[in-house]
Amino acid sequence: MCCLLFVLGLVLSAAPASEALDNGLALKPTMGWLHWERFMCNIDCDKDPDNCISERLYMQMADVMVKEGWKEAGYEYVCIDDCWPSHQRDAQGRLLADPKRFPGGIKKLADYVHSMGLKLGIYADVGKNTCAGYPGSLGYYETDAQTFADWNVDLLKFDGCYMDQTRLGEGYSNMAKALNKTGRPILYSCEWPLYEWPVRKPNYTAIRETCNHWRNFNDVYDSWSSVKSILEWTADHQDIIIPSAGPGGWNDPDMLVIGNFGLSHDQQESQMALWAIMAAPLLMSNDLRNICPRSKKLLQNKRIIDISQDPLGRQGYRTGKVDNFEVWERPLSKNRRAIAILNVQEIGGPRGFVIRAATGWNICNPQCNVTQILPQYREMGVQTAHSKMVVSVNPSGTALLTVTPISSNS
Ligand SMILES: *[C@@H]1O[C@H](CO)[C@@H](O)[C@H](O)[C@H]1NC(C)=O
Ligand SMILES: *[C@@H]1O[C@H](CO)[C@@H](O)[C@H](O)[C@H]1NC(C)=O
Ligand SMILES: *[C@@H]1O[C@H](CO)[C@@H](O)[C@H](O)[C@H]1NC(C)=O
Repeated sequence: MCCLLFVLGLVLSAAPASEALDNGLALKPTMGWLHWERFMCNIDCDKDPDNCISERLYMQMADVMVKEGWKEAGYEYVCIDDCWPSHQRDAQGRLLADPKRFPGGIKKLADYVHSMGLKLGIYADVGKNTCAGYPGSLGYYETDAQTFADWNVDLLKFDGCYMDQTRLGEGYSNMAKALNKTGRPILYSCEWPLYEWPVRKPNYTAIRETCNHWRNFNDVYDSWSSVKSILEWTADHQDIIIPSAGPGGWNDPDMLVIGNFGLSHDQQESQMALWAIMAAPLLMSNDLRNICPRSKKLLQNKRIIDISQDPLGRQGYRTGKVDNFEVWERPLSKNRRAIAILNVQEIGGPRGFVIRAATGWNICNPQCNVTQILPQYREMGVQTAHSKMVVSVNPSGTALLTVTPISSNS
């Protein structure tokens, strides 16, 4: 068994360093579904009609989101990624949806999604082409922003392929202006820092002023090594990126791959817990028409979603690394705190981790109330600064807890 003396008072409480993009959106991390990781650029609707990128796919996801409790759980945006457009713009220079795969067009799809009480997201690229080689928006920012607004689109994921890296900032901010000019509030999801890191340290003040969330690191894959690399990158850069997160703008570690093929159930719990701690957008990329009940229950776990959507809107930090455990903490509203303990030892069985509230854990002085959320719900009851609590964590799994202070006069 292992012990940790928490040093919790850390920099967990600074408010975001700069102003967020002022479009009234993403006051909490965005929740929804995005096609890329699971469906990629599958455009063969003759051979694979159920899984190809077509209006049918989004309509079916929207249907399931309403029928199966996803919308009620908070998942709201149904998002299209790359490979939706036609290879040619129309005579007026506007983007067009592929006519065979989107016979109704995007406006009709948006109307359908809105009729279900959901929102529609679309994808474009700041450069000459999208990553998959479809027309990019360079030279067409105002035209494309207006087209998306005319179609009643609610979110734009703006990729960064085929763009001069020295002009990324100019491109992303010009598109932000073009979106604003349409008068329609469109949530703006950027990949600006991801493409800027290879050339220089991104300016997160400018990014927060421009985008509602922003990808920093590689695309997520359906594997534990991918999820782990994202967590590692985030922890390694936390002092740079976390101060820019807050209501209106968030760091985006990419999609949830829960419910697919690559993660064990413990690893799925780790992704869900840590994405909530990181105040990350919860954009699932999976097949909601066919998902295992355990993954569904995890993705719809209200207690975890409440951590994700906490009104204080602060991103959590990795606060400790000891004996192949990592401790991550997120400050919550009402002086509460969420704690995730990740067992990164990928050999052996469950290991016990002893939480000692003694050092620095002010919220347990004089008393606190501890609730375990993962891997199972357990009320650990009233604790004091002298308590020692033991949680058992499976290899590559996570124990997730919330701690609520109890003031002496209540
Ligand atoms: C455009 O920007 C102004 C000033 O920041 C803001 O007040 C307004 O709400 C924005 N409009 C849209 C549609 O984003
Ligand atoms: C970063 O961007 C902000 C806001 O646009 C600007 O005021 C600041 O000078 C920039 N910082 C650097 C180091 O370029
Ligand atoms: C501790 O939290 C649990 C779960 O929210 C709640 O049921 C219980 O009443 C709380 N106990 C105290 C003493 O606040």
